[in-house]
Amino acid sequence: MKASVTEGLGQGFVVEEVDLADPVGHEVRVRVRASGLCHSDLSVATFIGGEFPVVLGHEVAGVVTETGPQVTQVKVGDHVVGSLIQYCGSCVNCLSGRTHICLRPEATLRTPDQAPRLSWNGAPVAQGMGLGGFAQEALIHENQLAVVPEGMPWAPAALIGCGVLTGAGAVLNSADVRQGDTVVVIGAGGVGMNAVSGARIAGAGTIIVADIEDAKLERAKAFGATHVVNSRSTDPVDAVRDITGHGADHVFDFVGARPVTAQGLRMLGKGGGLYLIGVGGTDAGVEVSALAVLSGSQKVQGVYMGSSNLKRDIPFYASMYLQGRMNLDDLVSREIGLADIEAGYEALKDGSTARVVITDFS
Ligand SMILES: NC(=O)c1ccc[n+]([C@@H]2O[C@H](COP(=O)([O-])OP(=O)(O)OC[C@H]3O[C@@H](n4cnc5c(N)ncnc54)[C@H](O)[C@@H]3O)[C@@H](O)[C@H]2O)c1
Ligand SMILES: [Zn+2]
Ligand SMILES: [Zn+2]
Repeated sequence: MKASVTEGLGQGFVVEEVDLADPVGHEVRVRVRASGLCHSDLSVATFIGGEFPVVLGHEVAGVVTETGPQVTQVKVGDHVVGSLIQYCGSCVNCLSGRTHICLRPEATLRTPDQAPRLSWNGAPVAQGMGLGGFAQEALIHENQLAVVPEGMPWAPAALIGCGVLTGAGAVLNSADVRQGDTVVVIGAGGVGMNAVSGARIAGAGTIIVADIEDAKLERAKAFGATHVVNSRSTDPVDAVRDITGHGADHVFDFVGARPVTAQGLRMLGKGGGLYLIGVGGTDAGVEVSALAVLSGSQKVQGVYMGSSNLKRDIPFYASMYLQGRMNLDDLVSREIGLADIEAGYEALKDGSTARVVITDFS
């Protein structure tokens, strides 16, 4: 099958003929129909590194074509969406419903004594995040897949696996936003827009979006922001205090730069929570005054993958989309072929492009 291989740091994405093993145990063979380009794969390929050569791609939607002998949760013909959340299902965190912080995520992968899932010219190829979606086919543990209705279109389905789980999940799961609450979303990128959608689903009364680009703020209004603030021309902390009167109940930081996170903390009202999602660099973080947060009864929380339970949440977001209650169509700015990943990432540098999705695997 054809797969886009990254041979090393800075070596880009090159389509090669790669071999996929037959499914064993809980593995599922998926014919990939859509694969989203997320920034984190580009970061792995350009500066973070990891195992090479590798097939990246972790926003995957496709059809089940074959199942391993122990698979019970999906069947051939099912339409599925993958997620990078890997969980064992039997550790104490999984058993208490917190699969996103599973203690044994490696239980979903093959062990070193087993033949690799992917190989190229007879040598092993790593599989990004247990998914490897930049390929015609993928071999994925059933715990990393959720079934969606057949009426769900492929490109928006693929986005659910990372950006939607993260953005909407931060609001609905991590912060448990309630009707009437005031919400601030800092960073109106693809993930931030899903937080806006999540806030609408939760019934938030006020949804303020801050960014430094007017085009993104215009888009945020279309997603349901009740107020927008350009942090370049207006002090966003003053703006949030003016709009809310007493500070926000929930602030979501999708940027992750020290000055921005500090602004987020200053936006909080009494009892408010600041949620850290964006990772702008290795020095990202925030100085917290114990006296200030204890007297204001505030909290600062890191959020991994929107505290999501993928088996529950992926079908839920698909259903929200199909009911017209979650806008995913406006996140799919461009559809490309498997050979065009580098051009796709280049297009993402333009602020008007929200997400690029591979839908042509020929
Ligand atoms: N925590 C997790 O589990 C998780 C999962 C997926 C993605 N992420 C992270 O979420 C973040 C958002 O992802 P994305 O795809 O939407 O990124 P993006 O680059 O599309 O969006 C970031 C936005 O922040 C805006 N911005 C930059 N500086 C700003 C400032 N000073 N004030 C206000 N806005 C500013 C940009 O204009 C842009 O619109 C990324 O850092 C990504 O790595 C985290
Ligand atoms: Zn991602
Ligand atoms: Zn577990």
